[in-house]
Amino acid sequence: MISHVGSIRNFKGLSCSRSQHKTHTSRKNHSASRLCSRLQSSSGDISSSNFVRKHILDLQPYTPIVPFEVLSEKLQRPITEIVKLDANENPYGPPPDVYDALRDIKYPHIYPDPESRRLRAALAAECAVPTENLLVGCGADELIDLLLRVVLEPGDKIINTPPTFGMYSFDCNINAGDVIDICRGLSFKIDVEAIEAAVKTHSPKLLFLTSPNNPDGSLIEEDDLLRLLRLPILVVLDEAYIEFASAKSYITQVPSRKNLIVLRTFSKRAALAGLRVGYGAFPSDLIEYIWRVKQPYNVSAIAETAALAALSNPSYLQEVRDKIVFERARMFGLLSEFDFLEPFTSESNFILCRVKRMSAEYVKACLLERGVVIRHYSSPKEIADCIRISVGRPEDTDAVVSALASIKL
Ligand SMILES: Cc1ncc(COP(=O)(O)O)c(C=O)c1O
Repeated sequence: MISHVGSIRNFKGLSCSRSQHKTHTSRKNHSASRLCSRLQSSSGDISSSNFVRKHILDLQPYTPIVPFEVLSEKLQRPITEIVKLDANENPYGPPPDVYDALRDIKYPHIYPDPESRRLRAALAAECAVPTENLLVGCGADELIDLLLRVVLEPGDKIINTPPTFGMYSFDCNINAGDVIDICRGLSFKIDVEAIEAAVKTHSPKLLFLTSPNNPDGSLIEEDDLLRLLRLPILVVLDEAYIEFASAKSYITQVPSRKNLIVLRTFSKRAALAGLRVGYGAFPSDLIEYIWRVKQPYNVSAIAETAALAALSNPSYLQEVRDKIVFERARMFGLLSEFDFLEPFTSESNFILCRVKRMSAEYVKACLLERGVVIRHYSSPKEIADCIRISVGRPEDTDAVVSALASIKL
């Protein structure tokens, strides 16, 4: 517990003493006394958490993935002997051009371009979307947060379609919004009628759709998307894994539609998860406001350099993509052979499996003992008995299979 005296010292300029109160204007008096009462609870103790916004006090802490080095120490194994398949990273790494470009970086002492002009121009060419509609972020994660910051007033609603990527509800809650969950049905198909009904009843501002969806890898059907785009709502289509899918991206449709936003990332296809580069295509009359709330230097010089170098080698990106898609099919076949697993068809770089006759947590723990790191779910209820395994190299699949074969019932 922080001592009373210490905290008063920390907040010198907002002293609670009576004599100093007299020197303030009445408005200042008011806010100073509010601070005083925050500093002192009824028992006289002080807590700096009394200053925290109410909706933040209620937030559930985010459970992040354990970093590689920490994992290595925990498992008492060198990093090279850990098969990390828990975060849908790309183990092939980026094209060699990225390492060359990072080695040659010339001006690390100069702030980066706040508009990521070179990268946006390269993306415009790659995606066939005007540069004016594109914005680059510190991962697609940042763009989700920026969008919610721009759109949500406290108490405004979004529609989420669980089981899905956790950051939509996480960022909505940070931005004091309310999440309406419209759960997916069989085979993780979105419930279009229920979404339409929720839009009518609750007038939410945003709908988050993920295609392919994380954690199951299913695609949103075109008819469903087109129907939902007719609703009076902003539709965010998160295509973080679209390069691994058989379906096309909708990013080119953004400029001609009023309410479609498409998010993409360099984390998966280009294997740059550690450098944090994502991008989004936004309608022209919305993007201006995203620019206004963005931190000026959100994309570092290193991140922009790496992303540009990755784009300069499309044949490497395609080759790695093809290897992962090929390996996905092989891994699916091998997983199907275990009678305690029921894998779901995936259009992404991971496979979700229902676990039968034992808990998903137990399977994850058994694999971890053998240095194979996967993800298990304890919620939401639709996937509470599931594990998700990222698709890696053939040797990674072999390690998964041999670890699964060693599990004792
Ligand atoms: C569906 C989805 N969207 C976005 C992201 C985050 O992407 P980024 O690494 O660019 O922040 C992820 C990361 O796993 C994801 O699964």
